[in-house]
Amino acid sequence: MSTPSTQRDGFTSSFGVLAATLGSAVGLGNIWKFPYLTGANGGASFLVVYLLATLLVGLPVMIVEIMLGRRAKANAVTTLERLAPRGQPWWLIGAMGGLAAFLILAFYSEVAGWVFAYVFKSAAGHVLTTDPAVAGAAFEHMINSPFEALLWQWAVLVFIGAIILMGVSKGIEAVTKRLMPVLFLLLIAIGIRSMTLPGAMAGLHFLFAPDFSKITTATVLTALGLAFFKLSIGMGTMMTYGSYFRDDQNIPATATRVMLADLTVSILAGIAIFPAVFALGFKPEAGPSLLFITIPAVFANMPGGSVFLVVFFVLTAIASTGAMLSLLEVPVAVLSEKFGWSRIRAVVVSVLLLAALGSTAALSHSLLADVKPFGMTFFDLYDFLSSNIMLPLGGIGLAIFVGWVLGKNQTIDALSNGGVLANAGVVRVVVFLLRWVSPVLIALVMLKGLKDF
Ligand code: PFF
Repeated sequence: MSTPSTQRDGFTSSFGVLAATLGSAVGLGNIWKFPYLTGANGGASFLVVYLLATLLVGLPVMIVEIMLGRRAKANAVTTLERLAPRGQPWWLIGAMGGLAAFLILAFYSEVAGWVFAYVFKSAAGHVLTTDPAVAGAAFEHMINSPFEALLWQWAVLVFIGAIILMGVSKGIEAVTKRLMPVLFLLLIAIGIRSMTLPGAMAGLHFLFAPDFSKITTATVLTALGLAFFKLSIGMGTMMTYGSYFRDDQNIPATATRVMLADLTVSILAGIAIFPAVFALGFKPEAGPSLLFITIPAVFANMPGGSVFLVVFFVLTAIASTGAMLSLLEVPVAVLSEKFGWSRIRAVVVSVLLLAALGSTAALSHSLLADVKPFGMTFFDLYDFLSSNIMLPLGGIGLAIFVGWVLGKNQTIDALSNGGVLANAGVVRVVVFLLRWVSPVLIALVMLKGLKDF
């Protein structure tokens, strides 16, 4: 049963829309994933591929995903049901998105748990060191402890469940609006600190001077997956948020701003991390631990460093919260609108399911380290399946749906704001990309990547 659109909660101000959407995009993807993938895939050349994927595929998909949600004013499954011609199963994209949200949250909540843990560990002075070996050991100790891993993950799940219970405007919007600006300022400060370490230039060189011989298909698939993950697209998150957009919100402009701001945060995170990596003798290809071992080192010898370190992890925790809220909102909106569940029932059931699924990711560094379906730990498998398979597949589906089924005229109409006609030139470019460029590129990259896999 669907709830009538007049009763739906939604974002109340233009700034609130921007903050919540940006709050979904910005998260561990920028501060944790982007740096470690860039580090592991050769630096600047990866950044170039990622930029192209974002512009040619990410942005157009983001624009139309928000548009679909706003048009239908419903959860991801209902939105596609309402907009698709009778009998065509496009709603499956929304259903796959709900599943992808679970898989992402299963490992994301674990990493967020590490971040929350580091807030307390850095406050207690346990992680401040410039010695790569000591920093690595402290991190390993935490993730190898089944009890610690589960405790932090479950605490995070309860925390986001509580905010989601407060609703869209009083929960999601209120929290993200206040905290996003602070995150920017702090990242700038850390970036400056990191760049002034002696020997920092090598890091900037690594991040900004591309060596194209380092690009492989696997790298391209990873960059494409990152572009989807970063912009929270391909799985109905932006559709769900789009359904809370006001009718006079300019969607292409909002999406473009979010994309640019999101990119800025990633690059700032890169500038904060890589100079320190090279200046202090860490390894850029350290993988998921990169953030947790380098950032404490950046602060270790700096006056007031221990305080900054705590603030940094608090902000990262906040950034991850905004993203997790948007992830959890996808299944919660489907369960409450589609099946008529109360919000509280939808949240409680989702959080319990997540605690169960997430545990397999949390324990994959300890008790379940040797359980490797498809040769990967649960943690890596959930990440691979969602980022590299499900989100790009969802992206192809949405691109084909809008490019070929909905078509240009309906798209122009749906992108118009409260009767103000959308810029036809912009729409033409978006529809062209969705018809011819995005699906073909995604399909090629995925096929080749899977073959190599
Ligand atoms: N965009 C978020 C980040 O980069 O941390 C992660 C994310 C949120 C992915 C929401 C997908 C999603 F639907």
